[in-house]
Amino acid sequence: MTRFRSVAIMGTGTMGPGMGAVMARAGYQVALYDTSAEALERAKAGYDLAWGVLDRLETPTVEGGSVRYADSVADALAGAEFVIEAVPENLELKQKVYAEYEQHVGPEVILASNTSGIPATKIAANLQHPERVVVMHWSNPPHLIPMIEVVPGEQTSKATVDDTIAVIEDVGYYPCLLKKEVPGFVENRVLYAIMRECLALVDEGVVDLEELDLNVKWGIGYKLAVIPPMHLLDMAGMDIYTAVASYLNPDLSNASEVSPTIRDLVAKGRLGMKTKGGLFDYTDEEVGALRAQRGASLVKVRKALS
Ligand SMILES: NC(=O)c1ccc[n+]([C@@H]2O[C@H](COP(=O)([O-])OP(=O)(O)OC[C@H]3O[C@@H](n4cnc5c(N)ncnc54)[C@H](O)[C@@H]3O)[C@@H](O)[C@H]2O)c1
Repeated sequence: MTRFRSVAIMGTGTMGPGMGAVMARAGYQVALYDTSAEALERAKAGYDLAWGVLDRLETPTVEGGSVRYADSVADALAGAEFVIEAVPENLELKQKVYAEYEQHVGPEVILASNTSGIPATKIAANLQHPERVVVMHWSNPPHLIPMIEVVPGEQTSKATVDDTIAVIEDVGYYPCLLKKEVPGFVENRVLYAIMRECLALVDEGVVDLEELDLNVKWGIGYKLAVIPPMHLLDMAGMDIYTAVASYLNPDLSNASEVSPTIRDLVAKGRLGMKTKGGLFDYTDEEVGALRAQRGASLVKVRKALS
């Protein structure tokens, strides 16, 4: 248990409901708030779905946890000790809502942002108490991926960082503390490096999409979950790595433009599963089946790894 009991989650789109379920499950009294009444209504189903996944993960239910759906910022923040902000990724919006939060909570209340890449330094730039602002970057889906990046801003206090890490550990998740602010933090930098190389291989006609996915899934994907990169280096040996990296590094993609394959798809409105077609095609039934199957597989893999 941490010193916090009451948590407000501001913004209940893709991320809010799952984060809320994880926190309530760990014994926190959670208030969920959204400016959109429809989003808040949808959040109830999202929360229940996430709770069901936590059941399947056999996540312990800590006594005292609860959820309520707040109808105003003041209501959501009444009594809140720890605030998790998950409003859309827009600096002006984030700065505006944080200034509002400061009107409702005392200076001891931590304001943690789920931003995917905006530095806490910028979010907190005009606040009275920037020392209590920190990035707490969950990974999607938040009720399944148990790693959260903690990225302090220039003015974030050590106490804020320590408290945030304590909360993450308390819900049974793994905190990853960054020592400085970099665009994309760590998770997205690594992911986008992989995506860039994969797309370059497709664009250059080296491999077909299906073969590429098969390669990554059953090659490095499966392996990295068990032996992550730094440990893989020790396993392979620095001599081997040096020999390969010396000729391979200069040949890897360093393109700063987005892949032409992706640009073409965007121009055609083929955005992926949400438009029933992107790199692959999907029927409505396939979209539903894929989501269910992936959720079930992630549950199994996480259980196997823990
Ligand atoms: N979706 C992801 O995969 C993902 C992963 C990690 C982090 N994030 C980050 O989390 C944050 C939220 O992302 P999301 O994908 O859940 O966005 P989303 O667009 O799905 O949901 C955002 C919600 O915020 C609501 N909102 C807008 N203004 C608000 C306000 N002033 N107060 C309260 N609610 C407000 C919207 O109505 C919407 O329901 C972003 O900063 C995003 O970068 C997203």
